[in-house]
Amino acid sequence: MLRTRFTEEFGVEHPIVQGGMQWVGRAELVAAVANAGALGMITALTQPTPEDLVKEIARCRELTDKPFGVNLTILPAITPPPYAEYRQAIIESGITVVETAGSNPAEQVAAFKPAGVKVLHKCTSVRHALKAQELGVDGVSIDGFECAGHPGEDDIPGLVLIPRAADELSIPIIASGGFADARGLVAALSLGADGVNMGTRFMCTQESPIHDEVKKRITEAGERDTELIFRPLRNTARVASNSVSREVVAKLDEGVAFEDVRELVAGARGRQVYEQGDTELGVWSVGMVQGLINDVPTVAELVDRIVTESGELVRNRLGKLVAG
Ligand SMILES: Cc1cc2nc3c(=O)[nH]c(=O)nc-3n(C[C@H](O)[C@H](O)[C@H](O)COP(=O)(O)O)c2cc1C
Repeated sequence: MLRTRFTEEFGVEHPIVQGGMQWVGRAELVAAVANAGALGMITALTQPTPEDLVKEIARCRELTDKPFGVNLTILPAITPPPYAEYRQAIIESGITVVETAGSNPAEQVAAFKPAGVKVLHKCTSVRHALKAQELGVDGVSIDGFECAGHPGEDDIPGLVLIPRAADELSIPIIASGGFADARGLVAALSLGADGVNMGTRFMCTQESPIHDEVKKRITEAGERDTELIFRPLRNTARVASNSVSREVVAKLDEGVAFEDVRELVAGARGRQVYEQGDTELGVWSVGMVQGLINDVPTVAELVDRIVTESGELVRNRLGKLVAG
């Protein structure tokens, strides 16, 4: 058992979080994570409407008695989803932890905190984490440059970002981006974090609701097989390297407008990748950490392995180094 401020304050057995994942963070994965004693997040916007989110939360409750959270990601959009209605659906469903991401969490904190919902805000810089702390969030997940999805524009890897955050913040910190095994968890705790958040690693488990071919691709790919799209637009996203993402990078580097790549990056195409298993159909998120992923375990096997090996690492390898 590893006990940290995060496990104590968020009431979770292990200091491991499964962060929000568009199209992937559905009931079967989140329930498996909860049953394994970690904290899973249903991804709110994967559900087409707030009513569907209420149903997905109920479906997850049928699969687990343990607590789980919901991720609500707020990104710039031409037609924004009805965020307030999603928030209401989360509160009325009795969810006790929310992972916010994508923008300043002021509005979220104002809605969730009075309703007794803990807020774990995900961000990519120390200054944004400090702002979130000032706004009253209960913890922060900090994504280093390694992460899948949106790493921000500062390009600071976790090895520097996490201890910098630990030096400045007083609330629990979850290190995110590049974690897949016990070595990562022990390293994160050494850097001053209270736990880790994993996306790509949980995506590549038995219960993850995506096509087996995508999981196979992750186990085969190396740490160099990702692309950073939207860099010139200052809305960087780390995705799998394939013919589509490379074309997007090349076109934007030539100076074309977003309009000219819109069809290539359409969310619906990414969704098809997960449903049909053709990893060249569109852009899909994955992290550098895929270089460390070689199998497709059940979530319970994965969490158990990470926790057991972390104890061994600390007692044997590190303990023996000190004993000299
Ligand atoms: C397929 C996929 C979809 C993701 N979608 C979201 C999302 O909708 N909202 C969000 O806040 N983070 C999203 N993320 C980021 C993860 O929650 C997490 O921060 C990230 O995966 C950590 O890096 P790692 O993949 O190296 O573990 C996504 C990640 C993946 C792999």
